[in-house]
Amino acid sequence: MKIVLLPGDGIGPEVVAEARKLLAVLAPFLAGTGAGGLEVEEALVGGAAIEARGTPLPEDTLELCRQADAVLLGAVGGPRWDNLPGELRPEAGLLRLRKELGLYANLRPVRLYPGLEEVSPLREEVARGVDLVIFRELTGGIYFGPRGREAIQPVMGSPARRLEEESLPSEGGLEERAWDTMVYTTGEVERIAERAFRAARARRRKVVSIDKANVLESSRLWRETVSRVARRYPEVQLEHHLVDAAAMRLVFSPRDYDVILTENLFGDILSDLAAALAGSMGLLPSASLGDSGPGLYEPVHGSAPDIAGKGLANPLATLLSVSLMLRYSFGLGHLSGLVERAVEEVLGEGFRTRDIWREGRTLVSTEEMGERVRRKVLELAERG
Ligand code: IPM
Ligand code: MN
Repeated sequence: MKIVLLPGDGIGPEVVAEARKLLAVLAPFLAGTGAGGLEVEEALVGGAAIEARGTPLPEDTLELCRQADAVLLGAVGGPRWDNLPGELRPEAGLLRLRKELGLYANLRPVRLYPGLEEVSPLREEVARGVDLVIFRELTGGIYFGPRGREAIQPVMGSPARRLEEESLPSEGGLEERAWDTMVYTTGEVERIAERAFRAARARRRKVVSIDKANVLESSRLWRETVSRVARRYPEVQLEHHLVDAAAMRLVFSPRDYDVILTENLFGDILSDLAAALAGSMGLLPSASLGDSGPGLYEPVHGSAPDIAGKGLANPLATLLSVSLMLRYSFGLGHLSGLVERAVEEVLGEGFRTRDIWREGRTLVSTEEMGERVRRKVLELAERG
């Protein structure tokens, strides 16, 4: 099995380094599964690729990923590249990678680990037992629809005109207009909905589809299509929630949600909200899957440039992403569960990186956390 690591920027390299060490510990177990020997390669993406190669997704990185069985990415972005035009930013590299690999289904499981109630901003009785998964559509919607920017003649009384009158700099008196477009086809909605319903059958048999159908035409198509797919799954209950109300309800009553199905931008926003419920962004893994080809696994968190290189980053989201990789790319549910249990036990023993540390718990660095999990994996494997 061939795995490509894309450390990227900020804390990406630190957390991916822990994943790499975990993979090395898992290698002997993998060898026994018929999945073949473990081959790990690293490549450039994001700001790191911009610096070295002048582009956020070099062709050889893309090619390497296409030929891999799975890809693990750390994070991309940082203040250093914030003033670049959109298509040259680090984020554009990640978006193109998702698109090129056809990874339309982004799974983001959110669990409140036992013992982390104290870290969740919600009262214990509200937070306890949160266990949901977001199915975020990943290669469509406003992220990929037509966009543009143009200069227009300012209309009377517009801010640009006022600026000009006050002789402040205002682009020669011209105003600008910019737009992004949320576009969905029936097919795009159908395929992600199918995945969500199939997953729901193995869970609590409930799908909540989140949209803005009271305003957006693309949401009305989304809703109709999801309802149609739902008829193929009579054993699964379907609810439609409007995104604003859903944001509130996720905070008031997170256990109302089991499988959440939503479009790209809503999913991006709601998954950060859901991450907060679980106590920290540093705990949330994700899997991005298509119909064929390699899956892409990444922590939901960003590059956190403010804490990069200080050993403060929480590697658990990335280690849990390895666990998702074992499950979805290699069908190794048993090993995947082993990693998850190791994480759970290490947390249960009170070891915490700074983001989830509380009085009375043991503060550990990125590397120490990685080491604890690896040791626990071995210990659990021995116990059988
Ligand atoms: C995420 C990130 C990305 C996104 C960025 C880095 C492009 O926020 O994976 O949630 O918006 O999808
Ligand atoms: Mn995001």
